[in-house]
This record gives sequence, C-alpha cells and structure tokens, in this order.
Amino acid sequence: MVNCSRRYFVFGSAAALASGCLPRATRPDAISGASSVAGLSLRDTVAVESRARLRLMERLKGENEVPAEAYVPPQSLARTFWGIRFRAPIMNAAGMFRYAQCYDLVARQGAGAYIGGTGTLHARPGNDKHGIHLPFVIYPESGSASNWFGLPNEGDEITAQRIPKIGRIDGCPIGWSVGGPSGLDDLVRSLMIYDAAGVLFLEINESCPNTLDHKIRESEFYSRLKYIKENFLDRRSRRIPVIVKFSNDTPVGQVHILMDILFSLGYDGVNFGNTSTNYAKMRQTIAPGERALFDYYSTSPEFGVGGGVSGRPLKLISLMVASEAARYLKAGPPPQEFHVSRTGGIDCWEDAQTSLAAGISYVQWFTGYFERLRIDGNNVYRKMFEGDKA
Ligand SMILES: Cc1cc2nc3c(=O)[nH]c(=O)nc-3n(C[C@H](O)[C@H](O)[C@H](O)COP(=O)(O)O)c2cc1C
Repeated sequence: MVNCSRRYFVFGSAAALASGCLPRATRPDAISGASSVAGLSLRDTVAVESRARLRLMERLKGENEVPAEAYVPPQSLARTFWGIRFRAPIMNAAGMFRYAQCYDLVARQGAGAYIGGTGTLHARPGNDKHGIHLPFVIYPESGSASNWFGLPNEGDEITAQRIPKIGRIDGCPIGWSVGGPSGLDDLVRSLMIYDAAGVLFLEINESCPNTLDHKIRESEFYSRLKYIKENFLDRRSRRIPVIVKFSNDTPVGQVHILMDILFSLGYDGVNFGNTSTNYAKMRQTIAPGERALFDYYSTSPEFGVGGGVSGRPLKLISLMVASEAARYLKAGPPPQEFHVSRTGGIDCWEDAQTSLAAGISYVQWFTGYFERLRIDGNNVYRKMFEGDKA
C-alpha cells in the first residue's frame, strides 16, 4: 500500500520545478519556463502557477504522454454501480478535462472512470484577474490549491461532438459534469446533449442551498432540482444515472435533508464534494509559510478572488460529510439504486479504503492526482493499487 505523502507539489508548481525530480513523461519544467518562486511577488507567483498549470494541461493532451502499455487494475477492485462496470472505485474529479481530452491518458493509467466537464450550454472564456487568465495557485506544503476559473469551456454542443470519437476502454466509463450559472432550460439541454453523446453517467455541479434548513423545500435550490427531475429525470429514455455534487462546506446537519430531497426526486447519487469557500476554516490547515499567499489570493483587497480551496484541507471534512450521507443511505435507502461518492483531499489508496469502509461507493480526486502524477508518472494508479511491488 502506498503511504499518504506528506508533501505535495501539484501541477508543476514553481516549487516542483525547482525540485527537478518529475517523472520523464510528466515533467512540466520544460514547458513552464519557471525555475524558482524566490523573489517573486505574490501576484507574480499566481501568474507563474497559473501559466504552469495551463502548460501542463496542454502537454498532457499530447500523444507521447499516453502510456504505451495500458495498466489494468486488479479484478478485485471492480464494482458495478447502476449496471455500469467501473474497474476501480476511483476516478478523476470534474474540472480536470473540460474539452473531452486525455481519456486515453487516464484510462491507460488505470482509472476506474473518466469524468469530463463541468460543461455549460454556452461557451465561457473563464475568469481573468489582473491580467492572469484562469488564476490558480498552489500551497505545496499544505497539499492544497485555490482556483477561480469560472467554468471555462467551449459550450456543450461542441464538446459533446468529441465524445463519440473517444476509443473507450472496458471498465472505464465516461461521465460528464454539467452546471454553472445557466438557466434551468439550459441545464436540462446540457444534460440531454451529453445523454445523446453516449456518456454513461451525469453529475450536476450544484451549489449548496443557502437557506434555513426548514425552508429548503421552499427554496430556489429545491425548485431547480425539481425542475430537472420533471424535465430530465422523468423523461430519460435510457437508464443514465444523475448524481448531484455539493460543496464540502455543506453542514453535516443538512446532509439528511439533502438526501431526502434527492431520494424523493429520484436522483441516483450524491457527491460530497466540491471545493471550499470557508477561507477562515481552510486557513487553519494552510502551512504558516503559505498563509500570505493564501490570504492574498482568497481575501486580500489587492487580489482577493476568493475561489475554491482544494486538496488536503478537505480530507477530513469530505470524509465526515460523505460518511454521514452513506450512513443515512444505509439506514433507509430509496427505491432507486443510489450511491454516495466522496471528493476532497484524496491522495492515497488508504483514503479510498477508509471511504469504502464507511459505505461510500467510490471516490474522485483532483489535487492529489496531480501530486501522485508528479511522483509516479503514468504508474499513478498502478502504484496506488499495488504499492512498491508495482
Ligand atoms: C483547478 C480546479 C478546477 C475545478 N473545476 C471544477 C469543475 O469545473 N466542476 C466541478 O464540479 N468541480 C471542479 N473542481 C473541484 C474538484 O472537482 C474537486 O471537487 C475539488 O477539487 C476537491 O477535490 P480534491 O481535494 O481532490 O482536489 C475543480 C478543482 C480544481 C482544483
């Protein structure tokens, strides 16, 4: 078993580049042009990290990054959910592959599934701040990152055209995330587009109900989910599961209400969850030496985009919220097959195993994936499942 890493260097950060020890196939140093963060202003650090991330993502699309030999996870890890076979109960989280790129890469690495998006009906260029496109920053010592992207994508009609052309690998199903600030008609249309493109499961990137618990069923949040039920779930022509992804900031006390709503409206699963915007709480787990950058990015008057915090600071929170959902599901499941998934701070197999033991069906990872990719290269899943004998 692979131990949880104590240090992160995700996305080819300037710190990672300085460390100079990336696996050949995934070294971002040659493409970043950055060699050190020393002496950079906070603004320039964000600029360097943001550019390095974009270059790494561009590079990962390249055919020479795809493993020549496909790794197949041990049979014992396979699971069937909603009649779909997943080779392993772990996959990337939404936001990594917005353009239907890199399926070959992760499928041949051994991922249990591939999830694309978040897509929106209309194209979105993504956010800029102080001349920085898609501002992103990492906190390597804290195993964390912040992003404020604004769901950049080419629009669902264009993205979805690429999906049927993907050469699929058995046991690595394709799912898609949709969401964003679009109107409800747009959201339903997005779901229909990916359904028609042949994805096997859908995830709705939903924000949490910003209202009193006893008022949830009167809220705009509830109306949204009900509208989607009436206009998509009830009209499905095939069995395509729809999972709702909430924030990891969801209060544990609200989990039961949310689950009851998903059960009664006929949804098929829940994912806890997305990044956090609880900066005061997240800050407590940010290493002291990285707090100035964290504050600058999140809350300062000079930059202060806020954004979502990901990675290790979410580890315990996501486990707590998703475990509570799994416990509630076990105590009183709905008539439809329903699964709980967990996303947030997963960076080793032990995290996945702890989740499965708590009744969570599968996990997704984002920040931790890039850390392991840096260390293990294309053996990222092989090492995760088989440890040092891999
Ligand atoms: C750069 C970045 C972009 C993201 N974009 C999306 C997105 O488009 N849709 C979504 O549902 N989640 C998005 N997320 C959230 C991740 O899917 C995941 O829920 C979150 O990062 C917590 O997982 P982690 O701790 O393993 O990173 C994004 C996260 C990051 C770091």
